Amino acid sequence: MSSLEDPSCYGSVAPLDLGGPMTILHGMVNARKVTTLRLAEMKHSKQKIACLTAYDFLTARLIDEAGIDLILVGDSASMVFAGNDTTLPMKMDEMLYHVRVVTRAVQRALVVADMPFMSYHKGQDEALGNAGRLMQDGFAEAVKLEGGRNICPIVQRLVEAGIPVMGHIGLQPQSINMYGTYKTRGAEAKEAARIFEEAKALEDAGAFAIVIEKVPQALAARITEAVSVPIIGIGAGQGCDGQILVTPDMLGLTTQFNPRFVRKYAQLSEVMNGAFQRYRNDVREGAFPTEDESY
Ligand code: KIV
Repeated sequence: MSSLEDPSCYGSVAPLDLGGPMTILHGMVNARKVTTLRLAEMKHSKQKIACLTAYDFLTARLIDEAGIDLILVGDSASMVFAGNDTTLPMKMDEMLYHVRVVTRAVQRALVVADMPFMSYHKGQDEALGNAGRLMQDGFAEAVKLEGGRNICPIVQRLVEAGIPVMGHIGLQPQSINMYGTYKTRGAEAKEAARIFEEAKALEDAGAFAIVIEKVPQALAARITEAVSVPIIGIGAGQGCDGQILVTPDMLGLTTQFNPRFVRKYAQLSEVMNGAFQRYRNDVREGAFPTEDESY
């Protein structure tokens, strides 16, 4: 920490050293709290940013302990947690619940809350009120909004109020009914140019980072070079400043969804299915519980 920095602005000292290079947390060295400033530094020093989604306490804690830099409480919860076909049914109160349980678990990662469909479309005051709830009641440290130039006035308004905003361009799942398809965006020159302009506009409006979803890798790399804020890719290739995946997808919990951009780091559906079946058999056969497992 430099001599110009203090650990807190009031009497209670922050549990984590926001500025210092070395804190030991969960057995990890250099578990410095991730802030929007830290992400900017990571882009500047070309350190890749690892991001994942979380919706529940136990998973969020494991993700944080693993040293993931940013945890998004995504509205993908509508699909992978609640079983809906799209992200659209997610309501503010539901998002707030997920944000609360995730922030309760996380100490190091930056926690970003997705703003649900229709929570920022009905006017700037309502958008500000909803973003404020996610910060004040959910303890999120930033919010994420889908959209380009159209949402820039809202982004500006939130940033002016002290709410860090992450943009989301390329494929915007909340607009699935406009697209009619989840195919790659920006494959044609006209749409690619528009997505590029959207990134610049969000940067100008004050977004601290931008998610870019399912676009050709050359376009994502060009945007990453052209804007000063971190670009976090999902299905957008290696040229981004960081990557994000939906956690149940990368854990192999979702069995029906196998797009090329999802690398499965585990096959949890098989592990869980095996455990459930062994338990069922043990119960049926009277093999569980044993004397040792009884009082
Ligand atoms: O809702 C979500 O999980 C997201 C990520 C896929 C970026 O928006």
